[in-house]
Amino acid sequence: MLAPLVPGHLPLVGNLYGMRTAPLATITRALRENGDISRVEFPGGNRGHFLFHPDHVRTILVDHAKHVSKDTPGFAALRLLIGNGLVTSDGAFWLRQRRIAQPAFHRAKIFALGDRMVALTKRTAEEWTVAAKAGTTVDVAESMMRLTLRVVADTMLGQDVERDAADVGRAITHLLHDINDRIVRPWTPPVTWPTPRNRRFLEARDSVGRVVDEAIARKRAHPDAPGGDFLRMLIEARDEETGEAMTDQQLRDEVVTLFGAGHETTANLLAWTWSWLSRVPDVRRKLRAELDAVLGDRDVTADDYPRLPYTRAVLAESLRLTPVVWIASRRLLQDIPVGDYVLPAGTLAFLSPYATHRHPKFWENPEGFDPERFMEGAGADRPTLAYFPFGAGPRKCIGDTFALVEATLVLATLARRFVLELPPGLVPDPEPVITLRPRGGLPMRVRPA
Ligand code: HEM
Repeated sequence: MLAPLVPGHLPLVGNLYGMRTAPLATITRALRENGDISRVEFPGGNRGHFLFHPDHVRTILVDHAKHVSKDTPGFAALRLLIGNGLVTSDGAFWLRQRRIAQPAFHRAKIFALGDRMVALTKRTAEEWTVAAKAGTTVDVAESMMRLTLRVVADTMLGQDVERDAADVGRAITHLLHDINDRIVRPWTPPVTWPTPRNRRFLEARDSVGRVVDEAIARKRAHPDAPGGDFLRMLIEARDEETGEAMTDQQLRDEVVTLFGAGHETTANLLAWTWSWLSRVPDVRRKLRAELDAVLGDRDVTADDYPRLPYTRAVLAESLRLTPVVWIASRRLLQDIPVGDYVLPAGTLAFLSPYATHRHPKFWENPEGFDPERFMEGAGADRPTLAYFPFGAGPRKCIGDTFALVEATLVLATLARRFVLELPPGLVPDPEPVITLRPRGGLPMRVRPA
């Protein structure tokens, strides 16, 4: 028995057209019309299923984690950008790298970076003070991108990127659009062909690579200089069995991966959160009340993290409705039974936080922005994987605590000083390009709180 096809299937191109022109509408329509499982077909023999039910998410990401791989068109395109690092690698190689990186993400280590995160956020506060006085609008998406870039470069690499931030931001935007296009087109010239498009791609990639190479060279030359402990740990890591260090290429891939995954995602989480706070003023007022009550006039610190449940709930709800990683894919290495079907070895499985986070069986008023869903005691009867913005199982995001602590400290620092308002009538449009970004940026008016 076959599962129903994703709506909008066309002869020859299958579901490519729908997934290319309106991916979010296509998958939400599949959920609405077909329910938990839909079959999807792309040219070139790539077939698979969308799985929306939390139990099915668990089947693929947790129960059968060893029987799926990242050998998918999406990850192949991403490899062009971030190489074979933690996000894209598989098997024994991935496991070894994950073990090396894991200690750097220990909760205590991340909390220790809190004061630095707040200090770097204050630079954004200075910029916004100027904008508020001048009455100008700020592109909040870009502003958050620069801030999170600063944070990841400073805390993980020990590098000041202020000079390069604008270039790197632009390069990453270009790269993500380019890669996305490679995923959803039936064919594009391989990146090694000297086409104008490929040249632009490689130039953009090099401008990101240069920042990373500089950081690696500096840390190698001055291992004891303050900052960048994480980079130092990667440089000094040795294989338990062979005693070998990572090759230069491995090291570079891991650092580019963490540099990219570590700032682009958190920036979008923050950008979406500012847009939600503007659209739902009651939530903004409640957030402000919690920050005033807990912090008074003092700066926030990482130790406040557990004491700010509403702030964390606002971020969680933002990640529910606008999950930065909106889709994840896997290739099945063996037949896997899911619900009433057996999904064949060699096919693809797509899991989408964007769709599952709106599943009407698990979320009341799914389109409503309501942080109360994430307050203590709420949603106790909901399956855990009805919500999986950071993935699940062994390949779960290594940086979830880093991202949530950072976003909490940024929000707590800035939301007490500023109110951000979208221009009247503007409803930001989510653009799914690898990550979910506000299409065309997020122009907002900044005024003092
Ligand atoms: C709001 C922010 C973030 C979101 C929503 C997010 C989301 C995700 C998701 C969904 C995955 C799993 C992908 C899959 O299963 O295919 C993932 C993996 C990963 N993330 Fe994040 N992430 C965020 C922040 C970060 C940060 C701050 C870092 C690093 C500092 C980071 C580093 C990674 C790495 C290295 C992996 C691969 C882990 C592995 O497979 O071992 N992420 N992330």
